[in-house]
Amino acid sequence: MNDRFAELRRRDFSRLDAGGHVYLDYTGAGLYAESQVRAHADYLCGAVLGNPHSRNPTSLAATHAVEEARRKVLEFFYADPELYEVIFTLNASGALKLIAEAYPWEPGGHFLLTADNHNSVNGMREYAVAHGAEVRYLPLGCELRVDDVESHLAGAERGRHHLFAFPAQSNFSGVKHPLEWVEIAREHGYHVLLDAAAFVPSSPLRLDEHAPDFVALSFYKMFGFPTGVGALLARRNVLGELHRPWFSGGTVRFVSAQNSVHLPHVTGRAFEDGTLNYLGISAVAAGLGFLGEIGIERINRHVMRLTGVLLDELAALRHSNGAPMVRFYGPQGTEMRGGSVAFNLLDPAGETVDFRVVEQRTNAAGVSIRTGFFCNPGAAEFAFEYHDADAFRCINTLTPETFTLQQFSDCMSDHAVGAIRASVGIASNDADIARLMEVLATFRDAPADTVPNAATAAVVAAD
Ligand SMILES: Cc1ncc(COP(=O)(O)O)c(C=O)c1O
Repeated sequence: MNDRFAELRRRDFSRLDAGGHVYLDYTGAGLYAESQVRAHADYLCGAVLGNPHSRNPTSLAATHAVEEARRKVLEFFYADPELYEVIFTLNASGALKLIAEAYPWEPGGHFLLTADNHNSVNGMREYAVAHGAEVRYLPLGCELRVDDVESHLAGAERGRHHLFAFPAQSNFSGVKHPLEWVEIAREHGYHVLLDAAAFVPSSPLRLDEHAPDFVALSFYKMFGFPTGVGALLARRNVLGELHRPWFSGGTVRFVSAQNSVHLPHVTGRAFEDGTLNYLGISAVAAGLGFLGEIGIERINRHVMRLTGVLLDELAALRHSNGAPMVRFYGPQGTEMRGGSVAFNLLDPAGETVDFRVVEQRTNAAGVSIRTGFFCNPGAAEFAFEYHDADAFRCINTLTPETFTLQQFSDCMSDHAVGAIRASVGIASNDADIARLMEVLATFRDAPADTVPNAATAAVVAAD
């Protein structure tokens, strides 16, 4: 199996080694296979595609390409076309925003979400609150997982609209939350939103086994190209319960300018604003085909083997006094997790090494990792053991205009304010992990306060 992935790297990802890159940020974005891009360029060179909102031959060709992509998406996720619609969006965030602005939030209704969620799910709470719904977070426990989800779901008033949102895989810790929650939440009267953005690049999602009301994802995370195309997979019957706050070209069957009348489409089209990215969408089938040819189960085994190597190698990093060099955030084993590992480096006395300094060294070595909060503040707050009151005080003493990560870090004194995330994917190999380890090993035996001051490190975004 290793040979197969080694051959794939030579054939389709040769630019990594040619450029001296070690890419370990697959949770940030997948990489496109070179063959995928060539096939799409050939397709574009041979096709004449017009705006799909018309009925001329070039328009119909574009419509056909878009509809073919929808069919392939449903097929890839084993989604029954009678049950699900595919709504193309800009990205996963675009899919989440569609639900946020159209969900029938109401007083007495709940928006329940795991503390482990991307900010694009957290942001939905603004709509929920504005419409009087109660927002509640499920806390994280051991390994940054959620305990006893059922007790949080119990007691929702029947007849009201309740939404439960969780990520199939955490973009912070790599934890996979149980997909069985979908059925449990539905039984308790919740609609379920599954954020599958970090899960689907290397894990099989079968909507014939677990059938959430909504699934959000971005295609560039799955196969790198195209960017700017995501999808909301939605149960057809639930779409009817959503009310969009506006209409636009493409979403309506009829509009009168004289009379304040508009008739929205009654299908998923009511959610696709304006002209779709039809040139990008026409590359989705090839991307799914590329993953399908290798096999998502096989990709999963490859990614999990490398995740095991990464976890073991990190755990084996020790200072001369025997102290561990790494503090993990999330599971240290490969059970119920994906290929994303969050950690910080520790010095020989157990002090946290500033992640920005680590990033400076990985950058200099051509190693792409991610640092910070990873847009998942809830998981970070549990990982770094923030007490609500401390964080609240620090946030309150800093005005939005003057806020910097350095000031927040100073105020939180001995708490970490960010971490390092390494994530593996389809084109990763053992040599990538070895290169990362070489860089991390340069911190062996160095007290945290002797490594260059973080304040002089490049300023990074607080996400
Ligand atoms: C779990 C998860 N959800 C949502 C998103 C948002 O995706 P996008 O930026 O493509 O909208 C991300 C991106 O990192 C993610 O990892």
